[in-house]
Parts: sequence; structure tokens; C-alpha cells
Amino acid sequence: MAPLVSLFVLLLTASLAESKTYWADVASLKEFKNSVDAKSMTPGSCLSSWDFSVDPCDSLSGETFTCGFRCDTIVSGSGRVTELILDAAGYSGSLSSVSFNFPYLQTLKLSDNHFSGPLPNSLSNLTRLTTLFLSGNSFSGSIPASLGSMPLLEDLLLDNNNLNGSVPTSFNNLSSLKRLELQLNNISGHFPDLTSLKNLNYLDVSDNRISGSIPSSLPGSIVQISMRNNLMEGTIPERFRNLTSLEVIDLSNNKLSGSVPSFIFTHQALQQLTLSFNGFTSLDSPYYSPSGLPSELISVDLSNNKIRGPLPLFMGLLPKLSALSLENNSFFGMIPTQYVWKTVSPGSGFVGFQRLLLSGNFLFGVVPGPLMALKAGSANVQLAGNCFSWCPATLFFCQGHEQRSVRECRKFRRVIP
Ligand SMILES: *[C@@H]1O[C@H](CO)[C@@H](O)[C@H](O)[C@H]1NC(C)=O
Ligand SMILES: *[C@@H]1O[C@H](CO)[C@@H](O)[C@H](O)[C@H]1NC(C)=O
Ligand SMILES: *[C@@H]1O[C@H](CO)[C@@H](O)[C@H](O)[C@H]1NC(C)=O
Ligand SMILES: *[C@@H]1O[C@H](CO)[C@@H](O)[C@H](O)[C@H]1NC(C)=O
Ligand SMILES: *[C@@H]1O[C@H](CO)[C@@H](O)[C@H](O)[C@H]1NC(C)=O
Ligand SMILES: *[C@@H]1O[C@H](CO)[C@@H](O)[C@H](O)[C@H]1NC(C)=O
Repeated sequence: MAPLVSLFVLLLTASLAESKTYWADVASLKEFKNSVDAKSMTPGSCLSSWDFSVDPCDSLSGETFTCGFRCDTIVSGSGRVTELILDAAGYSGSLSSVSFNFPYLQTLKLSDNHFSGPLPNSLSNLTRLTTLFLSGNSFSGSIPASLGSMPLLEDLLLDNNNLNGSVPTSFNNLSSLKRLELQLNNISGHFPDLTSLKNLNYLDVSDNRISGSIPSSLPGSIVQISMRNNLMEGTIPERFRNLTSLEVIDLSNNKLSGSVPSFIFTHQALQQLTLSFNGFTSLDSPYYSPSGLPSELISVDLSNNKIRGPLPLFMGLLPKLSALSLENNSFFGMIPTQYVWKTVSPGSGFVGFQRLLLSGNFLFGVVPGPLMALKAGSANVQLAGNCFSWCPATLFFCQGHEQRSVRECRKFRRVIP
């Protein structure tokens, strides 16, 4: 009898040893699969073919990558799931009660499916996660504060869902975060302090209902800030002066007002400034000499504000600026020669205007001669809807809208020098 029992034990241990996947990970995979609507799994699809009759990690050979998950057997000793990627596969279902219990998971991507319901609280157990992509689903409810407890998380994408409530203050604990995308949700409230995120370089919270002032509490690592289409008030905070890596600001379609501060035009890294569709009423000019200004700006859009005053001369002296949009404001006076030369013949070391959009203002006088010679297609210049004494539609840059009536223009006439 004894040898037979030993043989049996031996066989059993051998088969156990061959169970590569850690039992808890198998349980979590099963639970995840069970919460996906069966009808959203087309026969033969990746998920429908997950067959737990075979050991999941064992059916992957080494580093190969089957049906969205990858296992690790080296670091963890036994098969632990490290990656789960099921993007754009048409899956639906509520994941709110799934227990994501994969302590070795580093990457979870479920973007562009139809998952719904609240975000699962168990995500906070994924303490080794570096990448979490849940974009383009129908997740609803508020963002759990517990999401702030992932110390290794670098990329957090929750954009294009139906999330509401405010951005949790606990996000300031995501000390490895580099990219945060929350755009196209229904997030409200004030934006939290994120100064502890020393690696954050990309922030997009556009198309929400975030209110209050533009956060001055952003880390110096930030490169791009997009907060367009929200309900933000006030102006650009003084602290942006110190965000020395900042290259792109898009704050269009908010309720910003007052003056656009001068430091923003001589910022050491800023290349793209988009402040259209706000309520700015003036523009502070930086100090400058005729030789130009230190500025990295390539594109400035201040269209559709309420800025009143002469066209700012200094814009014609920004060495790299190639696109300037000042449409639909209340700029008056003549077009400065600096603009004209920057369009037709920029000096050496200066980039010319490829786009100069000045329609819908109260500019007057005559259209400068050198501009008249401009050929359609050489630069996108637009002067329609102003108060120029002569701007016929035969000139391409006068097309699109008549000049304003004398009556409309009269209120600015008194400032003719
Ligand atoms: C996190 O994991 C622990 C241990 O496995 C478990 O008891 C707990 O319920 C999990 N938390 C959530 C929110 O799922
Ligand atoms: C968020 O949406 C849920 C429905 O998904 C709703 O019950 C809840 O009141 C909303 N919360 C806020 C703060 O708007
Ligand atoms: C942030 O982390 C600290 C320490 O890790 C912890 O004490 C604190 O509760 C966390 N805060 C939030 C809001 O999660
Ligand atoms: C967004 O939330 C507001 C309330 O905060 C609600 O009135 C509105 O219907 C929501 N919009 C969407 C698209 O869910
Ligand atoms: C900007 O940085 C300087 C020097 O580090 C500091 O003295 C100043 O207070 C900072 N300004 C703002 C608005 O944070
Ligand atoms: C300026 O305003 C006019 C009239 O309201 C509008 O048709 C045009 O699209 C606006 N221009 C831009 C760039 O938004």
C-alpha cells in the first residue's frame, strides 16, 4: 500500500506545482469575467475563450501575451497576473463589485468598452499599478478617494465617462503620477492642490463643470495644462510664472476675466497660449525693446473675449510667434507696422505670421500697402468685420464679412490720432 500512496502524493504535488497561476489571481480573473455581460462577449472573442479548465498563466508561454493578460512567474515565485489589457472590445457590464485582487498588477487597460456603474473600490488594492486606463466607457458616480492610494501610478486616464463629484484631494498622494486625464466627464467642484505630484507633466480636465479659480497649486514639472470648457473664474495665477516647464496652456471657454498678465508673454517655456471664449477685458504689455522679446510663444489665441484697446505692438516682436488670433474683441486703431512686416517680410531671426486673424474688431484706417500685395495662400490673414475705410471682397483677407457700419464704428472714431 505505502508505495502506492507515495506515488499518489507525488503525482498530486507534481500537478499542484504545475498550477502556475496563484489561486487568488484565478479567482479575481473569474470574478472579472463573470461581471462582464455575457451578451457582450461575441463567440470566439478573447474573453469568451478564457477557459479556466486550463491554468491561465500556464497557457501563456513565457513572455507571450494572450488575451490581454500577462503573467510573471519570476519575481513573484508563482504565476501572478501583471497585465490585463482589454481595450475596444465591445464589452459591457458593471464592474462596481468586482474585487480586483491582483497585488502584482502593473497595467490595467479597459478603455473604449461599454463598462458602466461606479468605479470599483477594489482598484485601490492594486498598489503596484503604474498604468490605469478606463477611458471611453460609461462609468458613473464620483471618483473614489481611495484611488489616491496607488504610490506607483504614473498614468491615470478616466476621460470620456459619466463621472461626477469633484476631483479627490487624495490625488495629491499619487506621488508617481505623470499623466492625469479626466476630460469629458461631469466633474464639478474646485480643483484640488496637486503640488506633491513632482512628476506630473500632463493634465487634461477639459469639458467638465469645474469651478473656482485656476489652480495655482500645480507642480513645477507640468508641461501641458488643458482646462477648456469648464466654469473657471479669475485670471491666470501669478504662480504660473514659476512653472518653468510649461509649454501649453488651454483655458478656453471658461469665465476668466480681468487682464491677461504680461509675464505670460515672456514665459521661459510657453509655446501655446489658448484663452479664447472668456471674458478678458485687457492685455498687459511686457517691457520690450525694438529688438524683440524673450519668448518661446508660437501660437496665441485670445479670440472671443472683450479686450478693448489698440492692437498690442509687442505681439509683432515675439520672435517665434507664427499664429495670432485676436478675432471678436474690441481692438481699435490701425494695424501696427510691426504686424505688417512680421507677415510680409519678417527680419532674420524672426518667424513670420502664418496666421493673423483680426476679424470682428473695430480696426480702422487703410489696409497697409504691403498687405495689399499679399497673395492668397501665402499667409492666412483675416480682416473682415472691422472699420477699414476700404476692404473690398476682391482681397482675400477682407472676405467673409462686410466691414462694420459707420454708425457702429463711430464710438471708436474719437481715438483716431
Ligand atoms: C483589498 O484586499 C483585501 C485583502 O485581499 C480584501 O480583504 C479587501 O476587501 C480588498 N478591498 C476591496 C475594496 O476590495
Ligand atoms: C452623480 O451621479 C449619480 C448618478 O450616477 C447621482 O446619483 C449623484 O447624485 C451625482 N452626484 C453629484 C455630486 O452630482
Ligand atoms: C496620503 O498619504 C498619507 C501617507 O501615505 C496618508 O497618511 C494620508 O491619509 C493620505 N491622504 C489621503 C487623502 O489619502
Ligand atoms: C451633470 O451634472 C449636473 C449637476 O451637477 C446635472 O444637472 C447634469 O444633468 C449632468 N450632466 C450630464 C451630462 O450628466
Ligand atoms: C516663484 O519662485 C521664486 C523663487 O523660487 C519665489 O521667490 C516666488 O515666491 C515664487 N512665486 C510664486 C508666485 O510662487
Ligand atoms: C466671431 O463672431 C462671429 C459672429 O458672432 C462668428 O460668426 C465667428 O465664428 C466668430 N469667430 C470665431 C473665430 O469664433
